[in-house]
Amino acid sequence: MPFDDGVFSSVAASARRRLPRLFADYVDGGAHGEWTMARNRSAFRKWGIVPRGMKNVETVDAGVHCFGQQWKAPFMLAPVGFAGMLHPDREAGAARAALRCGVGMAVSTFAIDSMEKVAKVGGAPLAQIYVFRDRALTRDMLARAAQCGIDGIIVTVDTAITPVRERDVRNGFRHLSRPTLMQMAGLLAHPRWCLGMVGRGTPAIGNLAGYTTAHGIMGQAKEMAAQIDPTLDRTDLEWLRSEWKGQLVVKGVMHPEDARVAIEAGADGVIVSNHGGRQMDPAPATLDVLPQIAAAVAGKGDIVLDSGIRRGGDVVMALALGATAVSIGRPWAWALAAGGETSVENAIRALSQEVVDILGLAGLEDIAALRRRGPDALWEL
Ligand SMILES: Cc1cc2nc3c(=O)[nH]c(=O)nc-3n(C[C@H](O)[C@H](O)[C@H](O)COP(=O)(O)O)c2cc1C
Repeated sequence: MPFDDGVFSSVAASARRRLPRLFADYVDGGAHGEWTMARNRSAFRKWGIVPRGMKNVETVDAGVHCFGQQWKAPFMLAPVGFAGMLHPDREAGAARAALRCGVGMAVSTFAIDSMEKVAKVGGAPLAQIYVFRDRALTRDMLARAAQCGIDGIIVTVDTAITPVRERDVRNGFRHLSRPTLMQMAGLLAHPRWCLGMVGRGTPAIGNLAGYTTAHGIMGQAKEMAAQIDPTLDRTDLEWLRSEWKGQLVVKGVMHPEDARVAIEAGADGVIVSNHGGRQMDPAPATLDVLPQIAAAVAGKGDIVLDSGIRRGGDVVMALALGATAVSIGRPWAWALAAGGETSVENAIRALSQEVVDILGLAGLEDIAALRRRGPDALWEL
């Protein structure tokens, strides 16, 4: 059975029509053979959610408390690099949609809108950072975050190496700063996207503008990606903990030992993520490793799961198996590309409604009831 994009199928299709091929593939693609990406989706097929009746589900509340914030639905928008290249509403538009819907939002290090611009929207977003080889840069990002009202820091730890993403290689994505004639033709074949970009000046990674003099987004990305420190270990997390007083979250955890290290180093939570299949391939699905990680964290921190969430049922399964909440990456990127801020809001509302419907059909009035029932809410197929 082919995998679809769930409740996001129509915005995903619309994004693929509107975007130049090389951006559509950049969002859709994964590392190497894209097995991890497929596994992330197929893992949800191994479970059913048991319908239950004769419970009062007249009102269902899907709100959660996660990473020190109260969200109206149990999910957040994951950090997505270059999202601002997909639509002129950029990351700030997505942040406005998230704020209106009462869900969390994380701004990527590689965001076109700076964290300052995104934070100005309100709602105290989270900022995703890397530990850079030059610690002064990391310290500066933390200082900027504290200054502009960022609520928490997400440090990504699964990018010590940048693997080949074959679609990007085919499209010459990383050489976009000096586009070939073929690439120019590909961009011009998508006039709506081109018109959206016209008049906004040369695109730049606004979030990193102060740290690089490289030309164009790809030049800037290359220079800054080389700054990601592959020697990062527990002592660096302890250092981050000493530098940052707010919520500290470690993203890219796929092994219980890594979860334990993160919590012992002082993190407030972890994100169980294989980067949507964009880093290690072949890796296990996040849903499959979640129970072991939940056991290792043992209630000492929040756990968000991402990679492959496309349906309300996926969200409920992840929470039943130990996640506090989940996050979505490609879905909000597709929605932004398809129709800007409004589409992101519609996509968030569609997923929220599915979560509410599934909880109600399972006879669960809120997330606390789901947690009490835990894996008993599910049926292993
Ligand atoms: C286009 C794209 C760019 C991404 N950029 C980043 C990034 O800059 N930092 C990061 O920590 N994760 C990044 N991610 C990973 C997401 O935060 C998230 O882990 C992943 O998208 C979840 O899987 P999903 O797309 O299946 O929902 C990116 C993902 C995509 C699809």
